[in-house]
Amino acid sequence: MDKLVIEGGPRLSGEVTVSGAKNASLPILAATLLTDERMEIRNVPDVADVRTMLKILQALGVEAVKDGDRVTTRPTPKRQWLAPYKLVSTMRASICVLGPLLGRLRKAQVSMPGGCIIGPRPIDLHIKGIEALGARVKIEHGYVHATAGSLRGSTVYLGGPCGSSVLATANTMMAATLAQGRTVIENAACEPEVVDLADCLVAMGAKIHGQRTHVIEIEGVKALHGARYTIIPDRVEAGTYLLAAAMTRGHLFIKNGRAEHLGAVIDKLREAGVQVTSANGGLKVDAPRGALRPVNVTTLPYPGFPTDLQAQMMALMTITDGLSVITEKIYPERFMHISELNRMGAYVFLEGASGIVRGVRALSGAPVMASDLRASAALVLAGLVAEQRTDIARVYHLDRGYDGMERKLEQLGARIWREKA
Ligand code: EPU
Repeated sequence: MDKLVIEGGPRLSGEVTVSGAKNASLPILAATLLTDERMEIRNVPDVADVRTMLKILQALGVEAVKDGDRVTTRPTPKRQWLAPYKLVSTMRASICVLGPLLGRLRKAQVSMPGGCIIGPRPIDLHIKGIEALGARVKIEHGYVHATAGSLRGSTVYLGGPCGSSVLATANTMMAATLAQGRTVIENAACEPEVVDLADCLVAMGAKIHGQRTHVIEIEGVKALHGARYTIIPDRVEAGTYLLAAAMTRGHLFIKNGRAEHLGAVIDKLREAGVQVTSANGGLKVDAPRGALRPVNVTTLPYPGFPTDLQAQMMALMTITDGLSVITEKIYPERFMHISELNRMGAYVFLEGASGIVRGVRALSGAPVMASDLRASAALVLAGLVAEQRTDIARVYHLDRGYDGMERKLEQLGARIWREKA
Protein backbone atom coordinates (compact mmCIF):
# COMPACT_ATOMS: atom_id res chain seq x y z
CA MET A 1 0.00 0.00 0.00
CA ASP A 2 1.37 3.42 -0.96
CA LYS A 3 1.64 6.50 1.19
CA LEU A 4 2.26 10.10 0.23
CA VAL A 5 5.07 12.04 1.82
CA ILE A 6 5.06 15.83 1.84
CA GLU A 7 7.64 18.26 3.17
CA GLY A 8 5.75 21.45 3.81
CA GLY A 9 6.93 24.93 2.99
CA PRO A 10 7.17 25.92 -0.67
CA ARG A 11 4.70 28.43 -2.09
CA LEU A 12 3.05 26.96 -5.15
CA SER A 13 3.51 28.81 -8.43
CA GLY A 14 3.07 28.13 -12.14
CA GLU A 15 0.39 26.54 -14.27
CA VAL A 16 -1.68 23.43 -13.59
CA THR A 17 -4.12 21.80 -16.01
CA VAL A 18 -7.42 20.51 -14.69
CA SER A 19 -8.48 17.05 -15.96
CA GLY A 20 -11.98 16.01 -16.99
CA ALA A 21 -14.61 15.74 -14.27
CA LYS A 22 -14.77 12.37 -12.50
CA ASN A 23 -18.38 12.95 -11.44
CA ALA A 24 -19.44 13.74 -15.00
CA SER A 25 -17.44 10.85 -16.50
CA LEU A 26 -19.04 8.15 -14.32
CA PRO A 27 -22.69 8.74 -15.30
CA ILE A 28 -21.72 9.54 -18.89
CA LEU A 29 -19.86 6.23 -19.16
CA ALA A 30 -22.96 4.55 -17.70
CA ALA A 31 -25.07 6.35 -20.34
CA THR A 32 -23.21 4.45 -23.07
CA LEU A 33 -25.35 1.46 -21.97
CA LEU A 34 -28.35 3.24 -23.50
CA THR A 35 -27.20 2.81 -27.10
CA ASP A 36 -26.30 -0.12 -29.34
CA GLU A 37 -23.80 2.04 -31.19
CA ARG A 38 -20.18 3.08 -30.64
CA MET A 39 -19.49 5.99 -28.34
CA GLU A 40 -16.35 8.07 -28.01
CA ILE A 41 -15.89 10.06 -24.81
CA ARG A 42 -13.00 12.50 -24.49
CA ASN A 43 -11.35 14.26 -21.55
CA VAL A 44 -11.94 11.28 -19.26
CA PRO A 45 -9.62 11.54 -16.23
CA ASP A 46 -7.13 8.85 -15.31
CA VAL A 47 -8.55 7.91 -11.91
CA ALA A 48 -9.39 4.62 -10.20
CA ASP A 49 -13.17 5.23 -10.18
CA VAL A 50 -13.16 5.51 -13.98
CA ARG A 51 -11.23 2.24 -14.21
CA THR A 52 -13.86 0.62 -11.98
CA MET A 53 -16.65 1.93 -14.19
CA LEU A 54 -14.93 0.50 -17.28
CA LYS A 55 -14.81 -2.91 -15.56
CA ILE A 56 -18.52 -2.64 -14.76
CA LEU A 57 -19.31 -1.82 -18.41
CA GLN A 58 -17.24 -4.83 -19.49
CA ALA A 59 -19.14 -7.05 -17.02
CA LEU A 60 -22.35 -5.75 -18.61
CA GLY A 61 -21.23 -6.86 -22.08
CA VAL A 62 -19.88 -3.57 -23.42
CA GLU A 63 -16.38 -3.32 -24.89
CA ALA A 64 -14.86 -0.32 -23.15
CA VAL A 65 -11.31 0.78 -23.90
CA LYS A 66 -9.39 3.75 -22.53
CA ASP A 67 -6.59 5.25 -24.57
CA GLY A 68 -5.17 8.38 -22.95
CA ASP A 69 -8.11 10.61 -22.09
CA ARG A 70 -10.38 8.94 -24.67
CA VAL A 71 -12.77 6.09 -23.92
CA THR A 72 -14.51 4.17 -26.70
CA THR A 73 -17.40 1.87 -25.95
CA ARG A 74 -19.12 -0.67 -28.17
CA PRO A 75 -21.89 -2.97 -26.94
CA THR A 76 -21.47 -6.67 -27.79
CA PRO A 77 -24.38 -9.08 -28.44
CA LYS A 78 -23.76 -10.53 -24.95
CA ARG A 79 -25.39 -7.73 -22.96
CA GLN A 80 -25.95 -8.40 -19.27
CA TRP A 81 -28.15 -6.65 -16.73
CA LEU A 82 -26.37 -7.82 -13.56
CA ALA A 83 -23.93 -5.38 -11.93
CA PRO A 84 -22.10 -7.59 -9.43
CA TYR A 85 -21.37 -6.87 -5.77
CA LYS A 86 -17.62 -7.40 -6.27
CA LEU A 87 -17.42 -4.28 -8.45
CA VAL A 88 -20.27 -2.14 -7.13
CA SER A 89 -19.07 -2.46 -3.53
CA THR A 90 -15.84 -0.65 -4.44
CA MET A 91 -17.60 2.45 -5.78
CA ARG A 92 -20.95 3.86 -4.75
CA ALA A 93 -21.39 5.73 -8.02
CA SER A 94 -21.89 2.33 -9.73
CA ILE A 95 -25.57 2.78 -8.87
CA CYS A 96 -25.77 5.02 -11.93
CA VAL A 97 -25.94 1.96 -14.21
CA LEU A 98 -29.43 1.26 -12.81
CA GLY A 99 -31.28 3.84 -14.96
CA PRO A 100 -29.55 3.04 -18.27
CA LEU A 101 -29.87 -0.75 -17.86
CA LEU A 102 -33.56 -0.38 -17.11
CA GLY A 103 -34.03 2.08 -19.96
CA ARG A 104 -32.32 -0.05 -22.60
CA LEU A 105 -32.92 -3.63 -21.42
CA ARG A 106 -36.04 -3.08 -19.27
CA LYS A 107 -34.28 -5.06 -16.58
CA ALA A 108 -31.53 -4.31 -14.07
CA GLN A 109 -30.03 -6.11 -11.14
CA VAL A 110 -27.54 -3.89 -9.35
CA SER A 111 -25.84 -4.66 -6.09
CA MET A 112 -26.84 -2.22 -3.33
CA PRO A 113 -23.96 0.17 -2.82
CA GLY A 114 -22.37 -0.42 0.57
CA GLY A 115 -21.93 1.88 3.54
CA CYS A 116 -19.79 4.92 3.21
CA ILE A 117 -17.40 6.69 5.52
CA ILE A 118 -19.00 10.08 4.72
CA GLY A 119 -22.31 8.94 6.29
CA PRO A 120 -25.51 7.18 5.22
CA ARG A 121 -26.15 7.28 1.49
CA PRO A 122 -29.67 5.97 0.84
CA ILE A 123 -31.01 5.19 -2.64
CA ASP A 124 -34.73 5.79 -2.03
CA LEU A 125 -34.82 8.67 -4.53
CA HIS A 126 -33.25 6.52 -7.26
CA ILE A 127 -35.98 3.95 -6.67
CA LYS A 128 -38.71 6.61 -6.54
CA GLY A 129 -37.53 7.99 -9.88
CA ILE A 130 -37.61 4.70 -11.77
CA GLU A 131 -40.82 3.51 -10.07
CA ALA A 132 -42.49 6.70 -11.31
CA LEU A 133 -41.64 5.50 -14.83
CA GLY A 134 -43.43 2.21 -14.17
CA ALA A 135 -40.55 -0.01 -13.03
CA ARG A 136 -41.22 -2.70 -10.42
CA VAL A 137 -38.44 -2.62 -7.86
CA LYS A 138 -37.58 -5.02 -5.07
CA ILE A 139 -34.53 -5.34 -2.88
CA GLU A 140 -33.44 -8.92 -2.28
CA HIS A 141 -30.21 -10.52 -1.14
CA GLY A 142 -28.36 -7.21 -1.32
CA TYR A 143 -29.44 -6.42 -4.86
CA VAL A 144 -31.85 -3.90 -6.36
CA HIS A 145 -33.98 -5.79 -8.90
CA ALA A 146 -35.83 -3.55 -11.33
CA THR A 147 -38.01 -4.67 -14.22
CA ALA A 148 -40.44 -2.97 -16.56
CA GLY A 149 -42.54 -4.32 -19.41
CA SER A 150 -42.61 -0.78 -20.70
CA LEU A 151 -41.56 2.57 -19.26
CA ARG A 152 -43.97 5.50 -19.32
CA GLY A 153 -43.10 9.12 -18.71
CA SER A 154 -44.57 10.84 -15.66
CA THR A 155 -43.94 13.68 -13.22
CA VAL A 156 -41.76 12.88 -10.24
CA TYR A 157 -40.51 15.05 -7.36
CA LEU A 158 -36.97 14.02 -6.38
CA GLY A 159 -36.34 15.95 -3.18
CA GLY A 160 -34.81 14.30 -0.13
CA PRO A 161 -34.08 15.63 3.37
CA CYS A 162 -30.95 17.38 2.06
CA GLY A 163 -32.44 18.68 -1.19
CA SER A 164 -31.92 17.33 -4.69
CA SER A 165 -29.86 14.24 -5.54
CA VAL A 166 -27.26 14.25 -8.31
CA LEU A 167 -27.23 10.56 -9.20
CA ALA A 168 -30.97 9.97 -8.59
CA THR A 169 -31.61 12.76 -11.11
CA ALA A 170 -29.07 11.14 -13.46
CA ASN A 171 -30.65 7.67 -13.17
CA THR A 172 -34.20 8.90 -13.68
CA MET A 173 -33.20 11.13 -16.60
CA MET A 174 -31.32 8.29 -18.32
CA ALA A 175 -34.18 5.79 -17.95
CA ALA A 176 -36.69 8.44 -19.11
CA THR A 177 -34.85 9.06 -22.41
CA LEU A 178 -36.20 5.70 -23.64
CA ALA A 179 -39.62 5.83 -21.92
CA GLN A 180 -42.86 6.47 -23.81
CA GLY A 181 -43.97 10.07 -23.50
CA ARG A 182 -42.90 12.96 -21.33
CA THR A 183 -41.17 12.84 -17.95
CA VAL A 184 -40.82 15.87 -15.68
CA ILE A 185 -38.28 15.70 -12.85
CA GLU A 186 -39.11 18.27 -10.18
CA ASN A 187 -36.46 19.36 -7.69
CA ALA A 188 -33.90 17.96 -10.12
CA ALA A 189 -30.23 18.46 -9.33
CA CYS A 190 -28.61 21.11 -11.54
CA GLU A 191 -24.95 20.43 -10.79
CA PRO A 192 -22.70 21.00 -13.84
CA GLU A 193 -22.16 17.21 -13.99
CA VAL A 194 -25.92 16.65 -14.41
CA VAL A 195 -25.97 19.27 -17.17
CA ASP A 196 -23.00 17.55 -18.84
CA LEU A 197 -24.79 14.20 -18.73
CA ALA A 198 -27.94 15.77 -20.21
CA ASP A 199 -25.88 17.43 -22.96
CA CYS A 200 -24.24 14.08 -23.78
CA LEU A 201 -27.66 12.38 -23.90
CA VAL A 202 -28.88 15.12 -26.27
CA ALA A 203 -25.83 14.43 -28.47
CA MET A 204 -27.04 10.79 -28.51
CA GLY A 205 -30.48 11.87 -29.75
CA ALA A 206 -32.35 12.35 -26.46
CA LYS A 207 -34.89 15.15 -26.11
CA ILE A 208 -34.16 17.00 -22.86
CA HIS A 209 -34.98 20.53 -21.71
CA GLY A 210 -34.37 22.49 -18.53
CA GLN A 211 -31.17 20.72 -17.51
CA ARG A 212 -29.71 23.90 -16.02
CA THR A 213 -32.72 24.28 -13.75
CA HIS A 214 -34.55 22.35 -11.04
CA VAL A 215 -37.20 21.12 -13.49
CA ILE A 216 -35.94 18.80 -16.20
CA GLU A 217 -38.25 17.62 -18.99
CA ILE A 218 -37.50 14.55 -21.05
CA GLU A 219 -39.50 13.47 -24.09
CA GLY A 220 -38.82 9.77 -24.60
CA VAL A 221 -37.44 8.55 -27.96
CA LYS A 222 -37.36 5.03 -29.47
CA ALA A 223 -33.57 4.66 -29.52
CA LEU A 224 -30.38 6.58 -28.85
CA HIS A 225 -27.46 6.59 -31.27
CA GLY A 226 -23.70 6.73 -30.77
CA ALA A 227 -21.95 10.07 -30.34
CA ARG A 228 -18.68 11.79 -29.60
CA TYR A 229 -18.63 13.84 -26.45
CA THR A 230 -16.08 15.81 -24.42
CA ILE A 231 -16.40 15.88 -20.61
CA ILE A 232 -16.30 19.22 -18.74
CA PRO A 233 -13.27 20.08 -16.56
CA ASP A 234 -13.39 18.85 -12.96
CA ARG A 235 -14.63 21.72 -10.78
CA VAL A 236 -13.65 19.92 -7.58
CA GLU A 237 -10.09 19.42 -8.83
CA ALA A 238 -9.94 23.08 -9.93
CA GLY A 239 -11.30 24.16 -6.55
CA THR A 240 -8.73 22.01 -4.77
CA TYR A 241 -5.89 23.81 -6.63
CA LEU A 242 -7.48 27.19 -5.85
CA LEU A 243 -7.39 26.22 -2.19
CA ALA A 244 -3.84 24.83 -2.48
CA ALA A 245 -2.68 28.19 -3.83
CA ALA A 246 -4.47 30.02 -1.02
CA MET A 247 -3.05 27.63 1.55
CA THR A 248 0.58 28.08 0.45
CA ARG A 249 0.17 31.82 -0.27
CA GLY A 250 1.08 31.03 -3.85
CA HIS A 251 -0.01 32.18 -7.27
CA LEU A 252 -1.26 29.83 -9.96
CA PHE A 253 -2.88 29.70 -13.33
CA ILE A 254 -5.44 26.92 -13.28
CA LYS A 255 -5.95 25.98 -16.91
CA ASN A 256 -9.52 24.85 -17.73
CA GLY A 257 -10.81 26.05 -14.35
CA ARG A 258 -14.26 27.55 -14.94
CA ALA A 259 -15.39 30.44 -12.77
CA GLU A 260 -19.05 29.77 -13.63
CA HIS A 261 -18.79 26.34 -11.95
CA LEU A 262 -17.05 27.65 -8.84
CA GLY A 263 -19.00 30.80 -7.93
CA ALA A 264 -19.53 29.97 -4.26
CA VAL A 265 -15.92 28.86 -3.76
CA ILE A 266 -14.43 31.92 -5.44
CA ASP A 267 -16.76 34.14 -3.40
CA LYS A 268 -15.52 32.59 -0.13
CA LEU A 269 -11.89 32.81 -1.19
CA ARG A 270 -12.29 36.51 -1.98
CA GLU A 271 -13.93 37.02 1.40
CA ALA A 272 -10.86 35.39 2.96
CA GLY A 273 -8.58 37.84 1.12
CA VAL A 274 -7.48 35.77 -1.91
CA GLN A 275 -7.60 37.22 -5.44
CA VAL A 276 -9.23 35.02 -8.06
CA THR A 277 -9.85 36.13 -11.65
CA SER A 278 -10.92 34.46 -14.89
CA ALA A 279 -8.30 34.68 -17.62
CA ASN A 280 -7.71 33.01 -21.02
CA GLY A 281 -9.38 29.66 -20.49
CA GLY A 282 -8.63 29.33 -16.83
CA LEU A 283 -8.45 30.92 -13.41
CA LYS A 284 -5.69 33.05 -11.92
CA VAL A 285 -5.29 32.90 -8.19
CA ASP A 286 -3.03 35.07 -6.07
CA ALA A 287 -2.85 34.75 -2.32
CA PRO A 288 -1.40 37.51 -0.12
CA ARG A 289 1.68 36.79 2.02
CA GLY A 290 -0.05 37.76 5.27
CA ALA A 291 -2.78 36.02 7.24
CA LEU A 292 -6.09 35.18 5.60
CA ARG A 293 -9.45 36.10 7.10
CA PRO A 294 -11.64 33.31 8.51
CA VAL A 295 -14.94 32.76 6.70
CA ASN A 296 -18.06 30.74 7.51
CA VAL A 297 -19.12 28.16 4.95
CA THR A 298 -22.28 26.06 4.54
CA THR A 299 -22.39 23.31 1.94
CA LEU A 300 -25.49 23.19 -0.24
CA PRO A 301 -26.60 21.72 -3.56
CA TYR A 302 -25.31 23.63 -6.62
CA PRO A 303 -24.82 26.57 -6.96
CA GLY A 304 -24.09 26.55 -3.22
CA PHE A 305 -20.70 25.68 -1.77
CA PRO A 306 -19.93 22.05 -2.81
CA THR A 307 -19.65 19.39 -0.12
CA ASP A 308 -16.79 17.92 -2.19
CA LEU A 309 -14.66 20.96 -1.25
CA GLN A 310 -15.71 21.21 2.40
CA ALA A 311 -12.74 19.28 3.82
CA GLN A 312 -10.23 21.24 1.71
CA MET A 313 -11.83 24.55 2.77
CA MET A 314 -11.58 23.47 6.38
CA ALA A 315 -7.87 22.77 5.89
CA LEU A 316 -7.46 26.37 4.71
CA MET A 317 -9.44 27.73 7.65
CA THR A 318 -7.11 25.98 10.13
CA ILE A 319 -4.42 28.57 9.38
CA THR A 320 -6.49 31.75 9.21
CA ASP A 321 -6.49 34.46 11.80
CA GLY A 322 -9.64 33.75 13.84
CA LEU A 323 -12.74 31.60 14.15
CA SER A 324 -14.75 30.01 11.34
CA VAL A 325 -17.74 27.69 11.20
CA ILE A 326 -18.01 25.07 8.46
CA THR A 327 -21.47 23.50 8.24
CA GLU A 328 -22.40 20.38 6.24
CA LYS A 329 -25.92 20.33 4.83
CA ILE A 330 -25.40 17.48 2.36
CA TYR A 331 -23.56 14.83 4.38
CA PRO A 332 -23.86 15.87 8.06
CA GLU A 333 -21.31 13.20 9.07
CA ARG A 334 -18.62 14.09 6.52
CA PHE A 335 -16.03 15.19 9.08
CA MET A 336 -13.52 12.34 9.33
CA HIS A 337 -10.74 14.80 8.43
CA ILE A 338 -11.16 16.77 11.67
CA SER A 339 -9.28 14.33 13.89
CA GLU A 340 -6.45 14.03 11.36
CA LEU A 341 -6.16 17.81 10.92
CA ASN A 342 -6.00 18.09 14.71
CA ARG A 343 -3.12 15.58 14.71
CA MET A 344 -1.31 18.16 12.61
CA GLY A 345 -1.83 20.89 15.19
CA ALA A 346 -5.13 22.30 13.96
CA TYR A 347 -7.80 23.31 16.46
CA VAL A 348 -11.18 22.08 15.20
CA PHE A 349 -14.08 20.65 17.12
CA LEU A 350 -17.33 19.20 15.92
CA GLU A 351 -20.63 20.64 17.06
CA GLY A 352 -23.58 18.86 15.41
CA ALA A 353 -23.01 19.13 11.66
CA SER A 354 -20.56 22.02 12.01
CA GLY A 355 -16.81 22.09 12.37
CA ILE A 356 -15.74 25.02 14.52
CA VAL A 357 -12.24 26.05 13.53
CA ARG A 358 -9.93 28.31 15.50
CA GLY A 359 -7.04 29.27 13.25
CA VAL A 360 -3.52 28.45 14.45
CA ARG A 361 -0.20 30.08 13.52
CA ALA A 362 1.17 26.93 11.86
CA LEU A 363 0.45 23.24 11.31
CA SER A 364 3.04 20.62 12.10
CA GLY A 365 3.76 17.58 9.95
CA ALA A 366 2.60 14.23 11.31
CA PRO A 367 1.68 10.71 10.18
CA VAL A 368 -2.01 10.82 9.24
CA MET A 369 -4.56 8.51 7.67
CA ALA A 370 -6.75 9.30 4.66
CA SER A 371 -10.37 8.25 5.27
CA ASP A 372 -12.03 9.18 1.99
CA LEU A 373 -11.32 10.96 -1.25
CA ARG A 374 -11.89 14.60 -0.30
CA ALA A 375 -10.54 14.17 3.24
CA SER A 376 -7.30 12.92 1.63
CA ALA A 377 -7.10 16.08 -0.45
CA ALA A 378 -7.55 18.17 2.71
CA LEU A 379 -4.64 16.35 4.33
CA VAL A 380 -2.48 16.96 1.27
CA LEU A 381 -3.25 20.70 1.47
CA ALA A 382 -2.41 20.70 5.18
CA GLY A 383 0.83 18.83 4.46
CA LEU A 384 1.87 21.47 1.90
CA VAL A 385 2.17 24.10 4.65
CA ALA A 386 2.90 22.00 7.74
CA GLU A 387 6.30 22.31 9.35
CA GLN A 388 8.49 19.35 8.37
CA ARG A 389 7.19 16.02 7.11
CA THR A 390 3.65 14.64 6.74
CA ASP A 391 3.03 11.00 5.82
CA ILE A 392 -0.46 10.29 4.47
CA ALA A 393 -1.43 6.61 4.62
CA ARG A 394 -4.18 4.96 2.53
CA VAL A 395 -3.52 7.19 -0.44
CA TYR A 396 -5.65 4.88 -2.62
CA HIS A 397 -8.57 7.11 -1.60
CA LEU A 398 -6.92 10.03 -3.37
CA ASP A 399 -6.25 7.92 -6.46
CA ARG A 400 -10.00 7.27 -6.80
CA GLY A 401 -10.65 10.83 -7.89
CA TYR A 402 -7.58 13.01 -8.48
CA ASP A 403 -5.72 12.61 -11.75
CA GLY A 404 -1.96 12.76 -11.08
CA MET A 405 -2.22 15.00 -8.03
CA GLU A 406 1.30 14.55 -6.72
CA ARG A 407 2.83 14.99 -10.19
CA LYS A 408 0.84 18.19 -10.71
CA LEU A 409 1.75 19.55 -7.27
CA GLU A 410 5.41 18.70 -7.75
CA GLN A 411 5.43 20.69 -11.00
CA LEU A 412 4.12 23.66 -9.01
CA GLY A 413 7.03 23.44 -6.59
CA ALA A 414 5.68 21.18 -3.84
CA ARG A 415 7.98 18.62 -2.22
CA ILE A 416 5.75 15.56 -2.48
CA TRP A 417 6.43 11.93 -3.33
CA ARG A 418 5.02 8.43 -2.96
CA GLU A 419 6.55 5.66 -0.86
CA LYS A 420 5.63 2.10 0.00
CA ALA A 421 3.96 2.21 3.43
N1 EPU B 1 -30.04 11.19 -0.79
C1 EPU B 1 -31.20 10.64 -0.30
N2 EPU B 1 -31.76 9.63 -1.02
C2 EPU B 1 -31.25 9.18 -2.19
C3 EPU B 1 -30.06 9.78 -2.68
C4 EPU B 1 -29.49 10.79 -1.96
O1 EPU B 1 -31.70 11.02 0.76
O2 EPU B 1 -31.81 8.28 -2.79
C5 EPU B 1 -29.41 12.29 -0.02
C6 EPU B 1 -27.96 11.98 0.37
O3 EPU B 1 -27.91 11.19 1.54
C7 EPU B 1 -27.38 13.35 0.53
C8 EPU B 1 -28.11 14.16 -0.54
O4 EPU B 1 -29.27 13.40 -0.88
O5 EPU B 1 -27.73 13.87 1.77
C9 EPU B 1 -27.32 14.41 -1.80
O6 EPU B 1 -26.71 13.24 -2.27
P1 EPU B 1 -26.61 12.94 -3.82
O7 EPU B 1 -27.56 11.86 -4.18
O8 EPU B 1 -26.69 14.22 -4.58
O9 EPU B 1 -25.13 12.34 -3.92
P2 EPU B 1 -24.65 11.34 -5.05
O10 EPU B 1 -25.38 11.62 -6.28
O11 EPU B 1 -24.67 9.95 -4.53
C10 EPU B 1 -22.77 12.86 -6.01
C11 EPU B 1 -21.27 12.82 -6.12
C12 EPU B 1 -20.65 13.00 -4.75
C13 EPU B 1 -21.12 14.34 -4.19
C14 EPU B 1 -22.65 14.39 -4.16
C15 EPU B 1 -23.20 15.72 -3.71
C16 EPU B 1 -20.89 11.38 -8.01
C17 EPU B 1 -20.32 10.14 -8.54
N3 EPU B 1 -20.85 11.56 -6.69
O12 EPU B 1 -23.13 11.77 -5.18
O13 EPU B 1 -19.24 13.04 -4.94
O14 EPU B 1 -20.60 14.54 -2.90
O15 EPU B 1 -23.17 14.11 -5.47
O16 EPU B 1 -22.78 16.73 -4.56
O17 EPU B 1 -21.33 12.23 -8.76
C18 EPU B 1 -16.98 12.79 -4.39
O18 EPU B 1 -16.70 13.00 -5.58
O19 EPU B 1 -16.11 12.77 -3.48
C19 EPU B 1 -18.38 12.55 -4.02
C20 EPU B 1 -18.73 11.96 -2.87
